[in-house]
Formats: sequence, C-alpha cells, structure tokens
Amino acid sequence: MSVIFSGIQPSGNLTLGNYLGALRNFSKVQEGNECYYCVVNQHAITVPQDPKLLHERTRALAAIYIASGLDPEQSTLFVQSEVPEHAMLGWIMTTLSYVGELERMTQYKDKASKRGDSIPAGLLTYPPLMAADILLYQTNFVPVGDDQKQHLEITRDLAQRFNRLYGDVFTIPEIYLGQDGTRVMSLQEPTKKMSKSDDNTTATIYLLDTPKDIEKKIKRAQTDSENSVHYDREKKPGISNLIEILSAVTDQTHEQVEQAYAGKGYGAFKKDVADAVIAVLEPIQQRYEELLKHPDLDDILDKGSAKAHAKASETYEKAVHAMGLYRK
Ligand code: TYM
Repeated sequence: MSVIFSGIQPSGNLTLGNYLGALRNFSKVQEGNECYYCVVNQHAITVPQDPKLLHERTRALAAIYIASGLDPEQSTLFVQSEVPEHAMLGWIMTTLSYVGELERMTQYKDKASKRGDSIPAGLLTYPPLMAADILLYQTNFVPVGDDQKQHLEITRDLAQRFNRLYGDVFTIPEIYLGQDGTRVMSLQEPTKKMSKSDDNTTATIYLLDTPKDIEKKIKRAQTDSENSVHYDREKKPGISNLIEILSAVTDQTHEQVEQAYAGKGYGAFKKDVADAVIAVLEPIQQRYEELLKHPDLDDILDKGSAKAHAKASETYEKAVHAMGLYRK
C-alpha cells in the first residue's frame, strides 16, 4: 500500500487539462492505497482572490473531486486551510529553501513576469508550502500533470535536505505521471499549456462547459493545412494535441487513432474528439450538480479534515522535535 497525495487550486474553473493530467488519475490509483486529496486554497491566495468566489470554488472543487470518481470512503478529501500543519510546516520548508532555487521555478517566473514591481512574496514561497502538503503525509506518489515536475523536484530536494540536517523524518516522494493528457495544450495556441487563467476562453475546455460549447471550441481548434491525422508534436502541435485528448478519453494509443482516421479529413476527426470529450464530461457534470446541493458534502469534508489532521500532526511533531523546535 502506498500513500498518495495531490491537490488542485480552487482558483478558477477547472479545465480538461486538470481532468486529464490530474483528476482522472486520482480515482485510478485510489483503490488499495492510502490517498489524500486536498483543495489547496492557501496556494490560491498567492495571487489576489475574491473572498466570496474563493469560498464557493472551494466547495465546488470538492464536489468535482467526488463527481469525477473519488470515493470519500476510500480517499481522504479535505481543505488545506482546515489543517493548520500545512502552513506550519510550510514555514519550516521556507526556512530551508534558497531564494535562488525558488527564483528558478518556471511557474514563478511566468507568474511574476506579469506583476511588474508588485510580485507577491507568496508566489516565490509557493513551492515550500507545496512540499509541506506532500511531506506531511509521508507520501510515496504524487499524481500531477507535467507542469508540476519542477515543484516535485524541489519537494524531493527539501525533504532530503531536512533529513540530512535533522535525521530521517520525511519519505522522499515520487511523481506519478499518467500516459496521455499529462500536458493538454491550448486549442488556440497549441504550443502553450491549456490553462484556467487563459483570457481567450475558446482556447480552453472547462469541465463544466456545455456540449455545444465543447463542440464549438474543438471545431475551431487551430490545426494545419495538411488534412492528415498523424502525431507530430513539433510539426503538427494542434492535431497532436487533439490526438492526445482523444487517446486519453478513449484509452487508445496514438497509432490506433491515426489508423482510424487514415484518409479522413479533420472535420470528421474533430467531431469525434468533441463527442468523446462530451461523453466523459457529461456524467461528471450531472453528478457535480447533485453533489453541490447535498448536505453530505460538508460532512465528507469535515471527516476528511479530521483524518488528515491526525496524520499531519504526527509528522509535524516529529519534524519539530528533530529540529529542537520545542520546550518540554
Ligand atoms: P493546479 O491547480 O494548477 O492544477 C491542478 C492539476 O492539474 C494539472 N494540470 C494539467 N495537466 C495536464 N494538462 C494541463 N494543461 C494542465 N493544467 C493543469 C496540474 O499539473 C495539477 O496536477 N501546484 C499545484 C497544486 C498543488 C499540489 C500540491 C499538487 C499544491 N500543493 C501538492 C500536488 C501536491 C497546482 O498549481 O496545480
């Protein structure tokens, strides 16, 4: 049995990228493992958030977790800010981090470059908080999309640094990447990651998009003039992205997809990609609507926080004792 931990920020409407890169793998690995899935609302506030929206999105994300297949009996679902050890160990991890290594994070560089002179310090110290999330549960595997690789590397470095300085307290976690869909690209600029925060909403499929919108967006997705469905990330980024999406949602290899569309044009291919995406998202959307209204959702999250807190506080105590950060 392995310990699995992952988290998603409640900072916007979730995308097909979040689903294929992360969410769908959460439910795949839950059986037979000890799993913790967190709504990382403290990470969301590293950039300004509207309080009412943040509150609503926190609950909504928990409902999405369950709607997309997480079983609260098997997995522990909880909200980060309800387990204070995340921020507490986050501070300890910040003290172990070097400014240089934090400044080298590509996500920091991307986000900071848009903020002129007012870069929130929390954007820089985001990775040590993420390390704390993972290390508190003595995690073995972290299912995430490709864009989190660097954050996983620094988590491993911080765990090793702590263990070297103060003794073996933390398990060194490993990244868990799925097969396809680990990096879903923008439908309009397919060399760029599909993102919750893209201003161009036609570039992104949101988990809660209507079938009509999904069809429209995929129909308008950027491709090329070859009219030949084959996979080549470099030369055909648009079509390759759609092949990868179809492979992921229908559990086929790229070759199977290429064979099925040999001699057929992009029109028929795009229609099938849209239908396949809709077939996966529609049942999730229905379950989500029911869950959001259901009082069980808060019970599940209350129980989740209590369970997460029990494990997190055990690890935290070990860490502070190892460091001499205690009196009696
Ligand atoms: P976040 O909220 O940006 O994204 C949540 C998950 O979705 C994945 N993802 C994608 N996968 C494939 N294609 C895409 N276009 C795409 N966009 C997003 C992300 O890789 C991620 O797995 N730092 C994390 C949140 C976090 C966390 C943690 C994750 C905080 N603490 C501890 C794991 C463990 C983040 O910003 O994810």
